[in-house]
Amino acid sequence: MMAPDDPPEPFIPDIRDFYRRQSVLVLLTLFLASTLGLSFFGYIDPLTSLFVATVASLIALMLASLRSTQESETSTDLSFPARKTVRVNIMSSAQLVAAMPDPALLLDSSVTIQHHNTAAESLFGKSLDGRALEHVSRDPELITAVEDALTHGERRIARIAWRGDVERHLMATIAPLGAKSGRAADQVLITIRDLSEQHRVLEMRSDFIANASHELRTPLASVRGFIETLQGPARYDETARERFLGIMAAQAERMTRLIDDLLLLSRVEEKAYLAPTGKVDLDDVLADVVRTLLPIADERKISITPPRANRSTLVVGERDELFQVFQNLIENAVKYGRDGGSVTVTRTQPAPPPGQPSRVTITITDDGPGIAPEHLPRLTERFYRVNADQSRKIGGTGLGLAIVKHVLNRHKGELQIESQVGFGTTVRVTLPATI
Ligand SMILES: Nc1ncnc2c1ncn2[C@@H]1O[C@H](COP(=O)(O)OP(=O)(O)OP(=O)(O)O)[C@@H](O)[C@H]1O
Ligand SMILES: [Mg+2]
Repeated sequence: MMAPDDPPEPFIPDIRDFYRRQSVLVLLTLFLASTLGLSFFGYIDPLTSLFVATVASLIALMLASLRSTQESETSTDLSFPARKTVRVNIMSSAQLVAAMPDPALLLDSSVTIQHHNTAAESLFGKSLDGRALEHVSRDPELITAVEDALTHGERRIARIAWRGDVERHLMATIAPLGAKSGRAADQVLITIRDLSEQHRVLEMRSDFIANASHELRTPLASVRGFIETLQGPARYDETARERFLGIMAAQAERMTRLIDDLLLLSRVEEKAYLAPTGKVDLDDVLADVVRTLLPIADERKISITPPRANRSTLVVGERDELFQVFQNLIENAVKYGRDGGSVTVTRTQPAPPPGQPSRVTITITDDGPGIAPEHLPRLTERFYRVNADQSRKIGGTGLGLAIVKHVLNRHKGELQIESQVGFGTTVRVTLPATI
């Protein structure tokens, strides 16, 4: 019976139990003491007192054990106010199905839906009760599994091929109810789990491994090729040896860079939920980044204009990580900019709306060839490069913007990339400022 307004009470050990048992022992002690007292003063002889004491102890022990057995069997006691009983609520099947978090359907032996929950409506539509399963889902694997579970009274699993706008991976568990294994069941309960997210994570992981090994395999193959040439045909060719060793060193450097970037990415991901605690002077970081990039910029006659340092801007963050962010963004502007072009870095910190925290924006603008709009949403994906060959040639791993995105997420920052083909690219980083 359902008693929705009267939920079951948890069993709480009653302190009165303790006193009840103690009272038997106290009475026994008093009785023994008085018997021994009477025998001591000669009112009864010691043998009789010993006999009476033994019989009294046995009776008391029997009473105590009888009481505790009764108390464990029933909750009522005539000598004390009745303890509340634990009431077990038996839910109706409809309520059980409704309470399930995943889509669930309860079917009878004629494969007709008896009850369903709201989660099931999001998959199969509304008004499901009373409809045959095959009118709701035409999935052959699901229908066969349900019939099988009903006939044999055994649990079955079915993969549902979902045909919709988005690809989904659904797994149904069909559990027979009211049947012994091997005998026909009266009902089956179908519960459906959406494994799409798990599937996506697995796919991402295998893509990542495939990409990482591909990126490593290319320079490795090249190094091995040069080693074979140096061991064979070019063994005594001094000039070729010098040239090949130079290429091998560059390839080794590329592999080191890739591994460093992979390690950095995994470290940043690990710390994703740890808020940074340090205070970082942004102008100081930007000045350091520009200093390290000047040699590459000079090679291509690109000028870098850093922000005017009129007052320091502090942000909550980790210096090394923010250094990586601006190094990659300004390096990108230089690497993918045009020869003889210019890169401008500016800092703005508008007055925040009342009650809102202050935010600082660093803008990096180049006048390079720009990025076509279809690439913009994918730039922060790992290993994504607009022109993989060009990027590889200039030492790019395609991990830079993925690292930037993760670091900024951790710093509660934002990244915006705008670009116009033929005119250049503008990247904006917004971070919460401390003052
Ligand atoms: N300022 C820019 N102008 C033109 N293209 C850009 C610019 N910034 C990034 N890109 C494009 O975005 C791609 C991804 O950049 P990202 O920084 O993630 O990788 P990368 O520079 O190739 O490698 P890494 O940063 O590891 O050296 C680049 O390969 C490039 O094609
Ligand atoms: Mg980069």
